[in-house]
Amino acid sequence: MRVLVLGSGGREHALVRSLAQDPSVSALYCAPGNPGTAVLAENHHLDPTDPLAVTELAVRLRVNLVVIGPEAPLVAGVGDAVRREGIPCFGPDAGPARIEGSKAFAKEIMEAAGVPTARAFVCDDAAQVAHALDAFGPPYVVKDDGLAAGKGVVVTLDRAEAVAHAAGCARVVIEEYLDGPEVSLFALSDGEHAVPLIPAQDFKRAYDGDEGPNTGGMGAYTPLPWIPDTLVDEVMRTVVQPTVDELRRRNSPYVGVLYAGLALTSRGVRVVEFNARFGDPETQVVLDRLASPLGTLLQSCAVGNLTPATRLEWRPGAAVTVVVAAEGYPESPVRGDAIEGLEEANAVPDAYVLHAGTALNDEGVLYSDGGRVLSVVGTGPDLKAARAAAYEAVSKITLRASQHRADIALRASEG
Ligand code: AMP
Ligand code: GLY
Repeated sequence: MRVLVLGSGGREHALVRSLAQDPSVSALYCAPGNPGTAVLAENHHLDPTDPLAVTELAVRLRVNLVVIGPEAPLVAGVGDAVRREGIPCFGPDAGPARIEGSKAFAKEIMEAAGVPTARAFVCDDAAQVAHALDAFGPPYVVKDDGLAAGKGVVVTLDRAEAVAHAAGCARVVIEEYLDGPEVSLFALSDGEHAVPLIPAQDFKRAYDGDEGPNTGGMGAYTPLPWIPDTLVDEVMRTVVQPTVDELRRRNSPYVGVLYAGLALTSRGVRVVEFNARFGDPETQVVLDRLASPLGTLLQSCAVGNLTPATRLEWRPGAAVTVVVAAEGYPESPVRGDAIEGLEEANAVPDAYVLHAGTALNDEGVLYSDGGRVLSVVGTGPDLKAARAAAYEAVSKITLRASQHRADIALRASEG
């Protein structure tokens, strides 16, 4: 099969890496891709949110599967356009992608499907905001209704800050605070059936000890030794399948990966958010463990061929990824600094470097070109070994004023 992957981050490098290992994938393209994907796939320069440009490229390259990485192309209707062209596509149409694109829509689906989530009010004016804040009390959780590239959610004890955030958004969702650790679970769906991948945990805050601003994610690991054995089955039964069923009932079938961001609260599992795509950087560790051929699996979803009997094979052991971010990330990342030591990092046993925000200049010198620059993956028989491999590889990398968290998977590795 001939596959085109859209996107240019660490997630896409991980997708391309796994697809390249699937013997049934005969041609692999990435658009726009990054210097890491260029080693494994043919990169094509284009705007991945432009439906016409994507379908033209997919037709020209005669691909039989398009895999959409980020949310922006999904919300822009790239999935609809590719499918209209008769090309199988992994990634939902714009309609069902609103499960990520609109917090209010996600709440509506969850309510209709009976999915456990935080109680919430959708507010369109200051009076509604004041009423909702008082109804729940602190800590206040205020979410911009639309896509906000990770900057839409404010969790604060400060009522004035909550009011100010709401005032800056057209429509907000205000919800009850969920206590408890977070888990990311991805499920693949063909619109009717769904199969879970293994759970992972992300580290959203910028600094060690979960301090500092929210980011896209500073690291991740799998497996999660501390979750109950029954969690995945429970989430499939109470969250994923009811959501897939509800979207299908609305003639809006969900084809792609449903990312359930979950809080394991004292009162049970609750959905914090849905995303319509693979999480970044959780994908880097989850796909590292996947032994089943990824291309075949994503194509089964795209053509409606996922059966309840579809069983995935996993490699034993653990994977940890540590994000190396640019100076100033997340507020104002500095670009254009030289990156050195990748060869040495890739030579560390059981470790490898995925590109996230990198570019090559005319002289072939690699430099930073985004907030999250690299996603360094370590593997091993357990989390301790996987961590050690990842951090040894990180120590080989030189990027001026770069930052990374030193505590990714630390607590889980210590039991
Ligand atoms: P979201 O964009 O909805 O994933 O929110 C970003 C982050 O804000 C989440 O990963 C949580 O850490 C936090 N968050 C969102 N909703 C809640 C909530 N209801 N209670 C506590 N924390 C939340
Ligand atoms: N790692 C969080 C996300 O991809 O949204």
